[in-house]
Amino acid sequence: FSHAILGIVMNQTVFVSNRLTVSVQKGAEGLKLVPSVGGLATGLSSVSTGDRPPLWVGWSGVAQEDLPEEEHQLIREQLQRDHNAIEVPLSQEEMDLFYSGFCNDTIWPLFHYFPTFTEYVSKTWKAYQEINQRFFDVLADVMEDDATVWVHDYQLMLLPGLIKKKFPHAQVGFFLHIPFPSFEMFRLLPSREAILEGLLGADLIGFHTYDYARHFLSSVRRLLGFDHSMGIIRTRNRAVKVDVFPMGIDWNRFLSAGELPAVKEVRSMIDLRYAGQKLILSVDRLDYSKGIPTRIRAFRRLLEEYPEYVGTATLLIIVSPSRESVPRYMELKREVDELVSDINGRLSTLNWVPIHYQYQTASFEELSALYRRADVLLVTPLRDGMNLIAKEYLAARTDEQGVLVLSETAGVARELSEAILVNPSDLDGIADAINTALKQAREEQTHNMKAMRNRLQRLTVQYWAQEFLDKLAEMKQLQAEHRAK
Ligand code: G6P
Repeated sequence: FSHAILGIVMNQTVFVSNRLTVSVQKGAEGLKLVPSVGGLATGLSSVSTGDRPPLWVGWSGVAQEDLPEEEHQLIREQLQRDHNAIEVPLSQEEMDLFYSGFCNDTIWPLFHYFPTFTEYVSKTWKAYQEINQRFFDVLADVMEDDATVWVHDYQLMLLPGLIKKKFPHAQVGFFLHIPFPSFEMFRLLPSREAILEGLLGADLIGFHTYDYARHFLSSVRRLLGFDHSMGIIRTRNRAVKVDVFPMGIDWNRFLSAGELPAVKEVRSMIDLRYAGQKLILSVDRLDYSKGIPTRIRAFRRLLEEYPEYVGTATLLIIVSPSRESVPRYMELKREVDELVSDINGRLSTLNWVPIHYQYQTASFEELSALYRRADVLLVTPLRDGMNLIAKEYLAARTDEQGVLVLSETAGVARELSEAILVNPSDLDGIADAINTALKQAREEQTHNMKAMRNRLQRLTVQYWAQEFLDKLAEMKQLQAEHRAK
């Protein structure tokens, strides 16, 4: 009681995501833990959970059988002691069926509007159910009856339902980091009802944009018959709130990075390398949803249509290896490799190479320096839940210069109307947009950058996480009122 008055949150907080904030890496000296990159860990590590640090439950990133038992035990202890994290074990076969299969060959393509890439295989759906159950079993061992549990992303859509069934007094939140597709797309999924039922185990379901929330509400109404009022769905016995929480970045980290000696060092190197060149930057994970081949072709079109850029503009395209176990990703890799090599082969001169291509994950220091130097950032995914790269670029531009060319089908476009918005399939349109961006007057750049940076600087990942947890806590009250009715 006294703690409640003091405002200290006493109940346990647990975050569950497919990947933990640290991953196991196998090196020459054995196993070690390395931080997983991404904004989620940063955002969630900063939220206030009273005097009890949050617990994490997730997968270590490596198949069980690849971990020698003795070393593995040490890693488990280290995870628990240093990171407050509990590992969910997965074998290679389970990863193939669950992760490469249902998660990344069914849900990922369908939710990103690639129905022809979507595989419907009953044994991968079975594995999805089993592995969600495995996450639950590990969680159930460590969670308290009245815990607050925040489940993340499309790999764990059945988990909220499993938790609510056994722990009716827990507060369960779910956030989807990818788009929720329109009903016409979602209805193609054979397990559509089970997925919705699983999600509705949560008390609060969050999406990046209003459109995703609207699509979800419409699927729930049409498939399960539950209507909503002001985003509150009344199921048979509970109230579930659906709301919009656009995820942000660790703004201050990107804002202040320019002062770091390591960033300054990279910066002088790239200033030298791209002296006299217009630099167009593009940064993604390798994924067909990112529209990488079209972007490269659009740059070729720019060079054809506006020959003044031949010899004076460079496209630097950085692609992080991703999901290499899924065949479609490797096909895309070949396509990108061939496209870049063809264009460079045809157009390079003795002192100019049009496309610089890195199939590697860039470091924070490299990205920070590149964001500050790039004249244009090209973000043209065919579909993207949010896209945080665009936000990182804005945070880094303390000089209020630079232009963002942005796909209208990225979630982030909803917040950035001052960017040059493009249709990511419109090759000519992207080429023209790059030209417009490269010619934008300094005053106009300042005007647009100011507006976008002012808007986003407060909407950090820390703000996002705290707002979600605050709304989840409010749901306790609403559920009590609902039960009383
Ligand atoms: C997207 C998903 C995340 C996922 C990340 C990297 O951002 O929303 O859930 O972790 O991609 O993909 P991976 O398959 O390597 O975890």
